[in-house]
Amino acid sequence: MRIQDEYTDLGDSKVAALLFEYMPKIAAEHRTDSLLVLMADLGRQIVQADRCSLWLIDEERNELWTKVAHGVDELRIPLSAGFVGYSLKTGEPLLIDDAYRDSRFDRRSDLKNHYHTTSVMTMPLESDGRVMGVFQAINKVGENVFFSKKDLERLKLISVYSAKTIESALRAETLERYARELEHKAEELKSAHMELIRILGEVSEFRSQEVGDHIHRVAEISLKLARYFGLSEEQQELIYYASLLHDLGKVGISDMVLKKAGRLTPEEFSQMKCHSAIGRTLLRDSKTDLLCMAADIAGAHHERWDGTGYPDGVKGEQIPRAARICSVADVLDALSSPRCYKPAWSEERVKEEMLRSRGTYFQPELIDILMDHWDEFYSCYKPDGEFVKKGLLPPVKA
Ligand code: C2E
Ligand code: SIN
Ligand code: SIN
Ligand code: FE
Ligand code: FE
Repeated sequence: MRIQDEYTDLGDSKVAALLFEYMPKIAAEHRTDSLLVLMADLGRQIVQADRCSLWLIDEERNELWTKVAHGVDELRIPLSAGFVGYSLKTGEPLLIDDAYRDSRFDRRSDLKNHYHTTSVMTMPLESDGRVMGVFQAINKVGENVFFSKKDLERLKLISVYSAKTIESALRAETLERYARELEHKAEELKSAHMELIRILGEVSEFRSQEVGDHIHRVAEISLKLARYFGLSEEQQELIYYASLLHDLGKVGISDMVLKKAGRLTPEEFSQMKCHSAIGRTLLRDSKTDLLCMAADIAGAHHERWDGTGYPDGVKGEQIPRAARICSVADVLDALSSPRCYKPAWSEERVKEEMLRSRGTYFQPELIDILMDHWDEFYSCYKPDGEFVKKGLLPPVKA
């Protein structure tokens, strides 16, 4: 019979007070490593040990790890090390009076830490019948030299509590990690998607040898129109990227027509008009919102509000909204900037032409927006404007 079993250690009311003190702190803490520190502190006070640690299994690295204090790196030991390893393997608690007289003791950590272990308790941390780690207390402090059976019972009590708390923190951390990874993957996919669209748009631009960066300017103007039109930010972004592809079908038009310096003959122009249908065919079978919108825009950006456009001669709201928006941007840009077949028009002439086309070529509301914010839209084309600054128009030579 060990003498100290007859002593009462910490009074039950003191234990209860400690639990009440720690419970709210533990409940408010969701990070596993901080929980390990808190639980170890609580354990140390309840069983009156010099050191306490909760060792958890790291399945990936086949090790046990713990955190003993904030700001200190985590500690790691092999799964089979010493008393902790024994409790882990057997699922049994240990109550040891003199570590050095027990063959299971692993002296290496004493040597490393310049420490002398005497009394030890270990208690498996179990949750749902699975051992997830071990709660360890080293060196009883105070009047007694050894841990008592009562200490072991108390260690068991807080081990059950710790295991449950840590299990749910670990689960939450795993879920959080998955959510972050998924979000990261989705972002990567999205940016790869956007990047491809930009490259495709540039391919069509490169083919048609337009002056400056027609497709990017059309995309910027379309986005501004969509914003004033009251579309959601998500729709604005879709329109921006989908507009980059409005002339994708030009990849199917012969160089002779595409790069002709002067006016097109009627025969050449009817070849040119095929770019709408070609663009739509290229994008038609896509599944994403972005490419569906791009197919709408490529197919219908030369339709007119009054039904006299091409390729289908649809009118009014039968024309997809994004295509109605993009056609305003397309013509505004074709008139305001130099093309291979025409120089840039003066501001007055562009404004007049756009206004004249209100309700015939373009949806009236879109021209109203353009006129209400004319200075903002047109300032992009000025020599000190946004497009020259962004490299979307060549700087004018002095
Ligand atoms: P784009 O250069 O992107 O021009 C888009 C649209 O802007 C044109 O569609 C037209 O509606 C309008 N636009 C362009 N220039 C003028 C203009 O001088 N006056 C007026 N009122 N509107 C203009 P559209 O007509 O269906 O032409 C489609 C594409 O065909 C043009 O795309 C351009 O690549 C090509 N294209 C049109 N006309 C000519 C031309 O005379 N010569 C050459 N080489 N290509 C032309
Ligand atoms: C430790 O490093 O404290 C664990 C080894 C043992 O239980 O003896
Ligand atoms: C065009 O000339 O092709 C378009 C100008 C218009 O009628 O609005
Ligand atoms: Fe076009
Ligand atoms: Fe265009």
